[in-house]
Amino acid sequence: MAPRPSPTPDTPESIRQEWQDAAPFWKKWYPQLAHQSRHATRIVVEGAALSPGLHVLDIASGTGEPSLTVAEAVGPHGRVVASDLVSEMLKFAEENAASRGLRNMEFHQANAERLPFPDRHFDRVTCRFGIMFIPDIPKAMGEFLRVLKPGGRVSFVTWGTREENPLFATLIRPFLKYVDVPKPDPDAPHVFRFSDENKLAGTLSAAGFQEVRAAKHKINWPWPGSAEEAWQGGSEIAAPFKKIMAAVPPGQREEAVREAIEGIRQFSDGQSINFPATIVSATAVAR
Ligand SMILES: C[S@@+](CC[C@H](N)C(=O)[O-])C[C@H]1O[C@@H](n2cnc3c(N)ncnc32)[C@H](O)[C@@H]1O
Repeated sequence: MAPRPSPTPDTPESIRQEWQDAAPFWKKWYPQLAHQSRHATRIVVEGAALSPGLHVLDIASGTGEPSLTVAEAVGPHGRVVASDLVSEMLKFAEENAASRGLRNMEFHQANAERLPFPDRHFDRVTCRFGIMFIPDIPKAMGEFLRVLKPGGRVSFVTWGTREENPLFATLIRPFLKYVDVPKPDPDAPHVFRFSDENKLAGTLSAAGFQEVRAAKHKINWPWPGSAEEAWQGGSEIAAPFKKIMAAVPPGQREEAVREAIEGIRQFSDGQSINFPATIVSATAVAR
């Protein structure tokens, strides 16, 4: 029997390229994504304990959340810097800020491991669904501590386990029948890298943060539309999974797509796809 195909291994450049290629799809599906992820935004924003006038750095901002909601919360006397490894993502974040009438934002292309900002510059660092993709996490945590003023806070959210998030299982499991995907190194960038809240808390403490709190939250992750559309959107934006899907030979890919759509339909009420989701939040203080 012929060996099953495997996706190409990750390199820092291939990861950057995957996000860059996915950027137009993050723009295309922005309204659906904003609706789906609003509870996650609320959790990051509450964890950041924002007040008018604060200066906030958002890491891995993608097409804008949570930086846009943070910019509304800190008001016209506050400032928010949205940053991302990929400038194409930030171009769309900037368009979204303009359409919401936000004038207190800046946009900087930046790798979280090497932040182009001075020491003790920000009151808060936020990040929604980005922290798990940063290769050298101790280095990035050191950068967050460096750019925060004493007493400044971080507020992050990331994903719980695959089993806790049927969104991923329904999208990916049908494809895994046809490809060999090596088990990820637990410390390499991947979606579920910080699915254990204690691991994220331990990483913050090890970096020197204080008053570390981490928790799991069960939230709704509703896609406003049909199973077919949820499949299309999910498969187009899911940058880390695209190469698994692409490695499946064409004849088997059609079968896997059919199975993924049927899996998604199990969560449909005819109007929306009501995925339950579990996310991990963490907050901590720089001293
Ligand atoms: C899942 S998206 C999250 C985007 C947005 N925060 C949201 O929740 O919709 C992950 C983002 O992380 C960015 N990213 C990946 N590695 C990064 C790094 N080392 N430094 C900064 N951003 C990075 C990607 O370009 C992508 O925009």
